[in-house]
Amino acid sequence: MVTKIDPDFQKNKPLILVVDDENTLQLVMRRAMEKDGYRVAVASNGEQCLSACQQIQPDMVLLDGIMPVMDGFASCAALRELLGELCPPVLMITALDDRESVDKAFAVGATDYVTKPIHWAVLRQRVRRILAERWAWTELLRQVERKEQLAEQLEQKAAALEETLYQLKQTQAQLVQTEKMSSLGQLVAGVAHEINNPVTFISGNLEHTGRYAIELLDLVRLYRQHYLQPMPEIQAKLDELDLDFIAEDMPKMLESMTVGVGRIQKIVLCLRSFSRLDESEMKPANIHEGIDSTLLLLEHRLKERPSGLAIKVLKEYGNLPLVECYPSQLNQVFMNIFNNAIDALEEKMAQQEDFAPMIRIVTESENAKQISIRIADNGPGMTDAVQKRLFDPFFTTKTVGKGTGLGMAISYQIVTNRHGGGLKCISQPGLGTELSIAIPIR
Ligand SMILES: Nc1ncnc2c1ncn2[C@@H]1O[C@H](COP(=O)(O)OP(=O)(O)OP(=O)(O)O)[C@@H](O)[C@H]1O
Ligand SMILES: [Mg+2]
Repeated sequence: MVTKIDPDFQKNKPLILVVDDENTLQLVMRRAMEKDGYRVAVASNGEQCLSACQQIQPDMVLLDGIMPVMDGFASCAALRELLGELCPPVLMITALDDRESVDKAFAVGATDYVTKPIHWAVLRQRVRRILAERWAWTELLRQVERKEQLAEQLEQKAAALEETLYQLKQTQAQLVQTEKMSSLGQLVAGVAHEINNPVTFISGNLEHTGRYAIELLDLVRLYRQHYLQPMPEIQAKLDELDLDFIAEDMPKMLESMTVGVGRIQKIVLCLRSFSRLDESEMKPANIHEGIDSTLLLLEHRLKERPSGLAIKVLKEYGNLPLVECYPSQLNQVFMNIFNNAIDALEEKMAQQEDFAPMIRIVTESENAKQISIRIADNGPGMTDAVQKRLFDPFFTTKTVGKGTGLGMAISYQIVTNRHGGGLKCISQPGLGTELSIAIPIR
């Protein structure tokens, strides 16, 4: 039964193209096929067969072998040539049943071969088998296609999941960092505040102390001038003290104490500006001030140490306008980049004795719309693999406890998301690293 071939047979009756130059045979075959439930189209020669196949796309072709002009073999070859993979199966029907003709039929691409006079039961059986095979084949193709679609959908879902995971990691990183920075910020702000008071006493009193000291020394000088013969007790004390030295050294001492206090006050100011937690609005800021105050906080890491030379900081500041930004957040970015550069330089110092570590800062306003800040070090640089993951949250090559791997991730967020700018890294192993920040002026 044909219905077993294709469950949709009743809906989509297979279409068979009968090609024969003999009208009677054409008619008989047509009737036989229609009786088996197929739809039938007819053609009387090779050319008609080619154009019919293109137009109506039959499910199979019953092709007469001997026809004038273009015989069945030539038609079959032309059909394969023309339609390629889309060519329907071809059942050749011909009186030529010698071996050579059979070989030739298969050589030109016939699916099967039936001889004349037609044995109807054989013909019907072959037609059925060929259609069943074709149906199974198209079904297989359909399934493969469906699987491919499913695979593609799965791939899209996996990509979406990966994206979500990435977003989650970013958010988590941001939360952790915000939390860390806010408690660190509070601590720094508290310490700055506490130091500020005593330092203010010292600096306020230093001035008076200096004046009193000078006046007291003056007084002693006057005594010495007018009482040439002091009491033995006073003379003994005078001998013990090197009064001339004290008179000379005291002003210098007071001077260096004043410088020291001034420096503490500057650092306190930096700490306070660095931890400005309340800054939730954008405001026009001087980028160079931000860089300088960050560098001041890092001075202890820049100066000479037993393990190597001081890190030289070259500033090539351009003419920058005030930039609308979140200043404390940008300071955080500078801090992360400088810390990384110093870590990298220290690594190279430990390996290479005569190494002269250097950080170069170049700022410029690229055009009316944005400024750029480039911070480069001549440290060990990064491999491609490290560079690719540089901005990934929690990516670090440092030992446990030393690096969290958040510095660059958070800096990236701050520059791109918060400021609509760009953060790029250029690095070559052995040569160094440059981080380039672009911030829109607005
Ligand atoms: N200037 C640089 N030279 C060489 N490698 C660098 C430089 N800056 C960053 N890296 C590499 O990128 C990694 C990630 O840097 P990131 O600042 O995000 O994390 P971290 O410094 O390891 O830890 P954290 O900053 O959280 O304390 C570093 O571990 C380091 O391997
Ligand atoms: Mg870091």
